[in-house]
Amino acid sequence: MDTTRPIDPRREDGPEDDTDVAGGADATTGIPEPAPLTDHGPARVIAVANQKGGVGKTTSAINLGAALAEYGRKVLLVDFDPQGALSVGLGVQPHQLDSTVYNLLMERDAEIDEVIRQTVVEGMDLLPSNIDLSAAEVQLVFEVGREQALGRALKPVLDRYDVVLIDCQPSLGLLTINALACADTVLIPLACEFFSLRGVALLMDTIDKVRDRLNPNLAILGILATMFDPRTLHTREVQHRVREAFGDLVFQAVINRTVRFPETTVAGEPITTWAPVSAGATAYRLLAREVLAR
Ligand SMILES: Nc1ncnc2c1ncn2[C@@H]1O[C@H](COP(=O)(O)OP(=O)(O)OP(=O)(O)O)[C@@H](O)[C@H]1O
Ligand SMILES: [Mg+2]
Repeated sequence: MDTTRPIDPRREDGPEDDTDVAGGADATTGIPEPAPLTDHGPARVIAVANQKGGVGKTTSAINLGAALAEYGRKVLLVDFDPQGALSVGLGVQPHQLDSTVYNLLMERDAEIDEVIRQTVVEGMDLLPSNIDLSAAEVQLVFEVGREQALGRALKPVLDRYDVVLIDCQPSLGLLTINALACADTVLIPLACEFFSLRGVALLMDTIDKVRDRLNPNLAILGILATMFDPRTLHTREVQHRVREAFGDLVFQAVINRTVRFPETTVAGEPITTWAPVSAGATAYRLLAREVLAR
């Protein structure tokens, strides 16, 4: 056991999290337990995208992935941000990697199986990235089929997974377009903060363009309210406006703002294992059930 852990992860949430509105029993949410699977694939590919920074894309990819794996789904997480935050969040040191998703994009003979790594979560694998990926954005511009590079790279393993989650960088550049071009659906985390609704129109517009030009079946899976603080009127107002604007697209699951998420990054594991009975873990399990039901 790792003694460097700052606090006992098994304790229940403190008072700050007791006001959780997200998790709840199935009876209150009406979202069914997912049926067990006997075999796996082909994968649904979900891009986790929002060009606004720090809204919980990476946190959501890791914890939704881990919750889906708890429900017996085989999950591949794709770190598609040169910052490598998703890799770090799962305890991988990106600068020490010899091969990453960058190699798959740029080298025709790169083997995806040599880049995929197992994570601490059973059933959840990782395609890591590091700062090399920032070069791909520039180099791909000169390639034929530059928007389909990620789709080509992932194709060989889609039959093995039930869900592929792509963690996008906070921009609408060529890397994010690659993710949207190979995704079936987009999950949009939206922080319950004043300026968060700005920019969503631009994201929706980009999704529409990708649908028209590259990926006719691309759909929005849903909008996830994150960084919700039930103690402040302000975030409740923002959440209300998000529901008013997007209706049923908004997931019932709401992710509270809590220090438990930054803690998980330090721990290098998802909240579902770090603090399994916390409100955050419960909320991401509800999100996983909603995703499987949509
Ligand atoms: N619900 C939450 N409550 C509190 N802190 C959170 C929550 N979700 C994420 N965080 C923290 O906020 C920071 C940003 O989260 P995260 O990296 O998931 O966002 P992001 O959208 O992926 O950011 P970027 O746009 O930079 O890729 C991280 O330090 C993370 O630990
Ligand atoms: Mg991120």
